[in-house]
Amino acid sequence: MILDEAARLIKDHVFLFMEKKTEVIAMSKKQFHVAVAGATGAVGNQMIACLEERNFPVKSIKFLASFRSAGKKLSFRGEPVVVEEMTETSFNGMDIALFSAGGSTSEKFAPVAAGSGCVVIDNSSAWRMDPRVPLVVPEVNSHAIAGYTQKGIIANPNCSTIQMVVALSPIHRKFGIKRIVVSTYQAVSGTGQKAIVELDAQVRAIMNSQPVENKVYPHRIAFNCLPHIDVFLDNGYTKEEMKMVHETRKILEDDTIGVTATTVRVPVFYSHSESINIETRLPITPEAVRDLLGSAPGVKVVDDLKTNTYPMPIDAAGQDLTYVGRIRKDESLPNAINLWVVADNIRKGAATNAVQIAEILAETYL
Ligand code: A2P
Repeated sequence: MILDEAARLIKDHVFLFMEKKTEVIAMSKKQFHVAVAGATGAVGNQMIACLEERNFPVKSIKFLASFRSAGKKLSFRGEPVVVEEMTETSFNGMDIALFSAGGSTSEKFAPVAAGSGCVVIDNSSAWRMDPRVPLVVPEVNSHAIAGYTQKGIIANPNCSTIQMVVALSPIHRKFGIKRIVVSTYQAVSGTGQKAIVELDAQVRAIMNSQPVENKVYPHRIAFNCLPHIDVFLDNGYTKEEMKMVHETRKILEDDTIGVTATTVRVPVFYSHSESINIETRLPITPEAVRDLLGSAPGVKVVDDLKTNTYPMPIDAAGQDLTYVGRIRKDESLPNAINLWVVADNIRKGAATNAVQIAEILAETYL
């Protein structure tokens, strides 16, 4: 009896001690009021999932979208959250806002959020080339996050640029990249939820001999390829192609790199693929690239010709790594390499990258 009582007392004390310890840990870990702007969209939805999966220290969460979605219910960590219309006062009391609600919405609301003391991580192209706004891929230039204080905004790069610089930055650091020639094969999810629905509807219509409707793209995307992403510019390139040029130089902090791009929309739901040719200043070999990328952060080399193993969108979808394969010498030039690079455009190309930035911001700067 006495022994039982003693055991119970010891057990109670151990539990009390453990509870107190958990309390201390919880109190010492900072937590943040987080808003997701564009929560009902393809990227916004994934941002919510990434915050959950990565156990971001959320004190409170707010989901914002247009008036069309106000009142709709989404969930966070198993609890329902009502979507609110984004207004000028939405960001009062918030610490961090993850934006993916289109360029014009970001132009209008990101400064409003920043003005109320809420740091914005913006997925649109609105602020990327502003010299007072850091453009960040954590594996490449996380130090740039420190510059968030200038405008209270950090820009998330274009999806095609992110996966390209994750793969190329270790090569640039060691061999010095002189020129990049890239052609992309981009999934429809990069255009947003409406484009996912359009590809699905067109495939079904064609398989059932029904008339096909094009609403999102100027031409049919099902069983087709469109060498046209974003608007055409005066120089004959698309805006997407020029984003890859300018953003790559800003992130790699080297304006001398020559970049030329052809961006193509393909009938794939998730994950962008890129055929990349690089010319380097120093002599380079495929073996050296394989070695270097074998230990590069955020990269997985998938390159075994004997077993027909190379990166493919169906394997990259749902993952956070950037997959690199088909590493080979460009036999037409002395110091040149060809690579095939694939990553999930909604995850590493958008939501995961934004949440990784938020993690560094939260841990180091806030
Ligand atoms: P909504 O669903 O209410 O239109 P996607 O890129 O997948 O199309 O998603 C775009 C996201 O941006 C959606 O969440 C959308 O909300 C939101 N959005 C679009 N326009 C606005 C706006 N003017 N104000 C707030 N959110 C907007």
